[in-house]
Amino acid sequence: MLRFDFNNMMSAIIGKQGFSQNELSDAKSMMTDALRKLKQKAPGFMQLPHGQAQICDDIVATATMIREKYENFVVLGIGGSALGPIAVEQALCIGDSKVRLIVEDNVDPERLLNVLGGLDLKKTMFNVITKSGKTSETMAQMMYVADALNKAGLALSEHIIATTDESKGNLVVIAQKENLKMFVIPANVGGRFSELTPVGLLPAAVCGHDIRAMLEGAAYMDALCTREESNPAALYALMHVLGMKKGQNISVMLPYADSLKYMSDWYAQLWAESLGKRYDLDGKEVYAGQTPVKALGVTDQHSQIQLFTEGPFDKIVTFLKVDAFRNDLDIPPAFEYVEDIAFLGGKTFGQLLEAERSATEYALCVAQRPNLTIALRQVNAHSVGALLYFFEMATALAGEMLGIDTYDQPGVEEGKLATFALMGKAGFEQKKKELDARPAKDAALIIE
Ligand code: PA5
Repeated sequence: MLRFDFNNMMSAIIGKQGFSQNELSDAKSMMTDALRKLKQKAPGFMQLPHGQAQICDDIVATATMIREKYENFVVLGIGGSALGPIAVEQALCIGDSKVRLIVEDNVDPERLLNVLGGLDLKKTMFNVITKSGKTSETMAQMMYVADALNKAGLALSEHIIATTDESKGNLVVIAQKENLKMFVIPANVGGRFSELTPVGLLPAAVCGHDIRAMLEGAAYMDALCTREESNPAALYALMHVLGMKKGQNISVMLPYADSLKYMSDWYAQLWAESLGKRYDLDGKEVYAGQTPVKALGVTDQHSQIQLFTEGPFDKIVTFLKVDAFRNDLDIPPAFEYVEDIAFLGGKTFGQLLEAERSATEYALCVAQRPNLTIALRQVNAHSVGALLYFFEMATALAGEMLGIDTYDQPGVEEGKLATFALMGKAGFEQKKKELDARPAKDAALIIE
């Protein structure tokens, strides 16, 4: 279903930027140690591929009802509560969904007005998704939507579904009070690891995708990524962690398929928020992490690839490749009098895309840039579930190798607290005073 090719990470192909066989053999214990620690820890996301049969039944029944009665399904959420649904819909939707999925993951008033303002509320189901149940952005969106529904005389319970923690946060309180249908995000699964919970499964089912196949794909990948030998997630993690030590501080995600375009966004959050940590588990300052960069083939061949090929030696590129596109398109012979373009006629766009990917892979190797390829035989619910789970395992294993807490995000707390203070939340008066006491800005550095 998925094929992992790590050849272009090796010194035999890319010279001193790559790894020798000895280097990898010496580091083998890093993989076994990380795997042992991860299995001991057993983070919640590792339980998701198995044992969700009942939850799936509930999700599918709810999705069937929504598909019968509604035209729009609007997710209100952010970060781990939004990026997965966007990535999966982009991957699996080939324009045949009965219900239009909209994911609102910002609080830009112009966008909100553009998107929500034009909806027929009677035909719209909102899915408020928040693990913590208290994220300001999501709460504000829900308040706006509830007000609009009230003004239209529509019952909240018929237009809002809540997806949140079973007992913590504000959303569960609102869901109980307003009698909303509620799906639970398991307590031990964090936001960015929650795509295979109702967070991602409900939007996918509403759009008509086979969520049981997604979980089967994840279970298939679980078997590969928990084994001691030939473990693709462990090798991916190891090569990236060792790469960081060589100064390869950037992880470029480069899908050559528009369907996988937003996998890069989802991966960026997972990799960045999980591994970007100031302290290790012993409290030592380590400033760990690797910056994810999102790119798209072939589009970025005319944008960022110049940098990837000739810029600093600080990147590892991951190609995502599709063996067989669900649809292909002929390039018909035309303009025969222009010899220069004649070679294109009679080929397909799929062939052109793969030729360009393969050529870019070759160019990166010639320029001695580490790169690897993950090939999906076809983009479908099974392979997408497998791909999501692969990156979750790779991230978790990289976190173990780095000795950091993969599942927290203390670096975003300061900003959240400051937002509360600036928005006048009770209990944050002291923080507001700290903000007001910031050094005044130098007017000479503000140019109008
Ligand atoms: O991975 C995480 O935990 C975060 O990025 C969250 O997904 C994000 O902050 C949104 O949080 P919540 O789902 O609690 O609203």
